[in-house]
Order: sequence, then structure tokens, then C-alpha cells
Amino acid sequence: MSGLRREPLLDGHGRRIEDVRVSVTDRCNFRCQYCMPADGLPWLRRDEILSFEEITRIVRLLVEMGVPDVRLTGGEPLVRRDVPSLVRMVAGVDGVRDLSLTTNGYLLERDADALVAAGLRRINVSIDSLQRDRFFQITRRDALPQVLRGLDAIARHPEVRPVKVNAVAIRGFTEREVIPFCDLARSTGFQVRFIEFMPLDGDRAWDRDAVLTGSELRELIAAVHPIEELPREPSSTARVFRFRDGRGEIGFVDPVSDPFCAECNRIRLTAEGALRTCLFSHHETDLREPLRSGADDDELERIVRAAVWRKELKHRVGEPGFRQPARTMSAIGG
Ligand code: 5AD
Ligand code: SF4
Repeated sequence: MSGLRREPLLDGHGRRIEDVRVSVTDRCNFRCQYCMPADGLPWLRRDEILSFEEITRIVRLLVEMGVPDVRLTGGEPLVRRDVPSLVRMVAGVDGVRDLSLTTNGYLLERDADALVAAGLRRINVSIDSLQRDRFFQITRRDALPQVLRGLDAIARHPEVRPVKVNAVAIRGFTEREVIPFCDLARSTGFQVRFIEFMPLDGDRAWDRDAVLTGSELRELIAAVHPIEELPREPSSTARVFRFRDGRGEIGFVDPVSDPFCAECNRIRLTAEGALRTCLFSHHETDLREPLRSGADDDELERIVRAAVWRKELKHRVGEPGFRQPARTMSAIGG
């Protein structure tokens, strides 16, 4: 069933928006170096974040405008109470095509069964190292065994496929992880994806030289395993390769060295109900205030359309004059 009951959602550069990332909380139980400061950030108050009903209302409106793909993120989404209920509510919206979750996996052992029962069919788990001490170094939490148990718990459900594992690629760190991650992909069927480090870190330590690029990673892998690129799925941000000498897939998301802005079909909703049209936006559009002061769907639609029309042409990471947004990744929603 298509939920399309309104005009498609277009931006001013001719791109059609079909994907929304919804941050359900700004809170997180990890402190990844590339995302949050060691001491954390001031959290939003409970009344500042959208309720599940408010999130579902916005998702329903977006689906009616032809945005059928929904990803729930954080912060860490599973630190918010009862996210499986939200999954059930969003999965029940007529016209939702693809409902997925991005998580650090720490609470997945607890929640896997409930998430699947609620209708979740796709998941990304972030893991940056398969060695416990190095995992601790990046996340500032000694949590690798717990995360791997979570990954197991979700993988036990055959209806959740593909299972993707995301690793942020950082120079001086990720080189030694590449082959162990390939081994994981080859032995489990998880799709491991390397994501180039972007300037969205709380410490503002990002530097162009700290980005280990997709092409460098592919060279490291090709020296060990022959790999072959698969046809690119439309509007997928990842280039996906298969191993020629065995099963398994490996993906590369290269926003810094090979931006995919021209095909970008996504928008983001922050935990407090701000619409962001780019990860690197300096401007956002508040939906919470109109939502709470009684705006009807047509009014909300007008606000969303006007914001999306001004979606940025492209990000300017690495260009002279680039300014890092005030929000960190945890406060935007990966
Ligand atoms: N650069 C690239 N990816 C990042 N993530 C968080 N911060 C950054 C960053 N600065 C990733 C996480 C997770 C997803 C939500 O975003 O590892 O996979
Ligand atoms: Fe938390 Fe994810 Fe940020 Fe790590 S990357 S601190 S897990 S929100």
C-alpha cells in the first residue's frame, strides 16, 4: 500500500525526499571519541523531546508526502524507555516501506525480541573495533562483549536482514581493524560498512588527515581478499563490494572523499522536533511548537515543504570556510 496522499516532497534542487531519520533521544550510554565529549552533554528535559505520538504523527504526514523509509536513531535510541512501542506505532503507519534502527547495541540483548515482535526488520549496529581494549578506547566504555551478545540476539531472528555493522574509519586506528572486520563479514553474513569520519565530534578534533578514506580501506582489503563492486542501489549512500573468494559483503560510506549530496534523499528530525535538511545544516525548523499549539496537518505540511525546499545543495566539508555545526552527531541523529 502506498501512503502517498499528498504531493511528493521535493527540494529546490530537484531532489525528491524519501527517507527520514528520527532521533528518539539525545542521550547515550557511550561516549565515542568521534561523537561526544568524555563528560557527555547537557541532556534535553523530558518535556522537550517529542512523545511517541508526536513522532508518529510527523512520520504519518511525511509518509503521505512520499517519505516511506524511516530510521530510528539517537543518541542511543534504546536508552529511551519502551522504544519497541514506538517501533510498533511507526510500523503501523500505512505506507511505511522500510523501518530500521541504528543502535550501539549495548541494550540489544535486552530488547532484540521485543523489537522484532514490534515489527523491526532491519538494523545497523555500530562497532568500531573487535578488540575489547580498542573498543574501550573509542567508546570510553568497556562494552564489547555486551554489544556482541546484542548482535547475536538480533541475528538469531532471520526476519531481521540484512544485519549491518557500522565502523567509523579513523586514520591510525581503523587500519588494524579492517581484516578482522572482513573476517566477521565472511563468517557471519553481516554487512560491515566503514563510514568516513565526519566533523560532527564533540571534541572538535576532526581533521581532514584523520579521515581514513574508502579508497584507502579498499586497497588494504584488496591486498588480502579480491573484492568486486556490486551494482549500486539507487540513493544508497554505500558502495557495496563482495568477496570473490568467499561469502560476505563489505560496504563503504564515503561522505568526505566522495560526497553523495547530489543523490541525497533524506531529512532528519531531532529528538526535540527540529527538522534538519542536512547533517551539516546551520539552520533548522522547529516542528514541535506548531505541533503543540494545535497546527493541523496541512499547516505542518506547509512548514515542512518550505524547510525542505531550502535543503542545502551539498555539504562543504574540507572546503575553506567550512564551519562545523553546533550539534554533535549524538544530538542530530546518525
Ligand atoms: N563521523 C562518522 N560517523 C559518525 N557516527 C557518529 N559520529 C560520527 C562521525 N563524527 C556514526 C556512528 C553510528 C552512526 C549513528 O553515526 O558510529 O554508526
Ligand atoms: Fe553514543 Fe552513537 Fe555517539 Fe557513540 S556514536 S556516543 S554510541 S550516539
